[in-house]
This record gives sequence, structure tokens and C-alpha cells, in this order.
Amino acid sequence: IHVDWDAVTAEKNGFDHFMLKEIHEQPKAYRDTIRGRVDESGRKVVLKDLNLTEDRIKQIQNVHIVACGTAYHAGLVGGTVIEQLVRVPVYNDVASEYRYRSPLITPETLVIVVSQSGETADTLAALREAKSNGAHVLAVTNVVGSSIARDADDVLVTLAGPEIAVASTKAYSSQLIAFYLLGLYLAQVRGTQSEDQVAHMISAIQALPEQVESMLENSDAIKAYAEQISHNQHLFFIGRGLDYAVAQEGSLKLKEISYIHSEAYAAGELKHGTLALIEDGIPVIALATQDSVLEKTVSNIKEVKARGADVMVITHEEHVASLLKSVDQAFAIPKTLPLFTPALSVVPLQLLSYYASLALGHDVDKPRNLAKSVTVE
Ligand code: AGP
Repeated sequence: IHVDWDAVTAEKNGFDHFMLKEIHEQPKAYRDTIRGRVDESGRKVVLKDLNLTEDRIKQIQNVHIVACGTAYHAGLVGGTVIEQLVRVPVYNDVASEYRYRSPLITPETLVIVVSQSGETADTLAALREAKSNGAHVLAVTNVVGSSIARDADDVLVTLAGPEIAVASTKAYSSQLIAFYLLGLYLAQVRGTQSEDQVAHMISAIQALPEQVESMLENSDAIKAYAEQISHNQHLFFIGRGLDYAVAQEGSLKLKEISYIHSEAYAAGELKHGTLALIEDGIPVIALATQDSVLEKTVSNIKEVKARGADVMVITHEEHVASLLKSVDQAFAIPKTLPLFTPALSVVPLQLLSYYASLALGHDVDKPRNLAKSVTVE
């Protein structure tokens, strides 16, 4: 794969900030990451560059996914995708914990490290720890010539293009696409999904770029909401399953560039302590895109609403009318298969943090105390 980067393509291109430009580049990043990885019939994923043999794929007994920050959050989604499609146990960890944990690694462990820059010190150290224990290490990275790409046994490159803003957006969502393709590929080899199921999922993945485009064209409501919540000092994100994984990313993004304190909570965990913090007027952003747990999430929404929270929900159009009976505002995202909703639901959360930071007059692209690439431990 040839990656074409130059200084001109890295310019702001008419956008006020790199972050907004990069949010808008997501449809292209998705298309570029998918291109060449689906066969002509559209029914099979082809990952020609992988050194991982079919035999070794069949021997995998468990998968560890290790990364930092936003890349870790992409790995949380990736873990669910692999567990559901391939039916192997997945263990997710942050690199700074994993490497000191004496993780249980065997030659049948597939270790996936995720890193936009490919230079994050803790992720690189975790990779080396895994390799020295005999695991096959696959790196999902955006930089082909990076240290992590060089040291890994395999590289699945995301073709997001250069990401300049400290807050990662298109790199995260392209990592999701990489996990979708990898999950389908492993499922194909191990026979855990039928050819028709794979084909159906491929066409859903191919529809994602256009769906993101449609969301980006309608961002006024999220901008207004961001301005509204920018005056708050505390905020909560809640969700279940994949919605919880995306909630964690939304919360990190908001903290990182708007400096508003927020917490992401598994919706069902609230009543085990955090519910005590909910009082009149506290904004709660609920993600409710997973139909299998929708009813449960709605009852958690009612719990916070009853304590005075101001609830905004991100859901599918078909649920907006009924959810508006229990929430204050609702944003609809386009419909896709449940596993792929994170590639859509993260977009309003990225825009929310961008516009909140903007409203507060912060340096969106260069938040205080943070660096784009963390090469110290
Ligand atoms: C994302 O918005 C953050 N700036 C940060 O969490 C980042 O994702 C993390 O430092 C990992 O970086 P990497 O993907 O380059 O390894």
C-alpha cells in the first residue's frame, strides 16, 4: 500500500481548525481504509498484506488489544467486534497497565496494538513484551514507517492521512473500520460467519462514508447543543455495550479540548454509586443505538431524568418520537448494523467537543498539557 502525504494536504483547507477539517475527512478516510480490502464480488474481505497465515488464525485462542487513549477506545469497539464475529475471547487493556501486569500470553495469543502515530512509548513497550512471550503482534496504525509498524509482525494500516489536531478523530474512526475488516477476515477464515452474512456486513461498511457525509451536512443542532452545555462544569455520558465504548471516547474528547469535566458510565452501573452525583440541570448524554439493550438504557435514562438531569439522547430516527417522552433533546443518526454504529455515533460527539471548545475560546487544535505523540512513558 502506497501512502501519499505532503505538506499541502496537511493544510487546513478552508476550515478554521485542523480538528474540524479532520472530522470532515472521515468519509474519505473510511473509503481509503476500505479500498482494496474487499474483493470484486463485494462478498469477501481480502487482507493480502497480512503475514498471519490461515493456519495460525485457526489456532488463535485469545486476543489481547492494547493501546492508549483514543486508540484504546477504538480497541474496545474492536474487541466487541472480534468477540461477536469470531467467537474468541478478547481482553482489552491500556498499554501502561498491560506491560506491567505479566499478561498471560502464549503463542496462540494474537496481540493487537493500536496507535495512530505508531510512536506511543507505552504501546511500543507492550508490543515488545508481547513479542518476547511468543505472541503474534498485529499493529493497527496510521503511520507505515513508525516504530510500532516496524516492530510488529503484521501491520494493518489505516489510511486516514496525516492527523494534526491533538484530539484524534479520523484516526479513531478509521481504526474502527480496520477492526470491522479484520473481524470479518478472521471470521471468514475460521468459518464463524456465513458467506452471505459477510457480504451483508461488507455492504453495510461500504455505506458508512455516505452516512457520515449526511451527518456532517446537518451539524447545526449539535453546535447549538454544544454552546448550551459549554457553561456546565460537569457532564455525564451513559450507554450500554458499544454505546458505552463510544461514550468513553466522547467523554475523553470533551475533557481534552473543552476542559469540561465529564465521566462516561455504563448506564446500568449508575445506581451503584454515581447516581448520587445527578442533580438538577446536570447534562447527561445518553447513547441509545443498540436495539438489544434499548429498553434497559431507557430505564436508566428515566433514573437520571427523575433526579433532574437534562438528558440528550443519540439514537436512530425510529426511536426519536418515543424517546422524546423521557428526554429533553434527541439527535438521530443513520441506521446501520449494530456492530457498526460506533463509526456513526462518534461523529456528533466529536462535533460536540469541537463546538464546546470553540464556544469557550480554547485552542482547539493544541489543548493545554497535551502532545500529539506521547513518546515518554
Ligand atoms: C486522542 O484524542 C488523544 N490525543 C490521545 O488519547 C491519543 O489517542 C493517545 O495518546 C494514543 O496515541 P496513538 O494513537 O498515537 O498511540
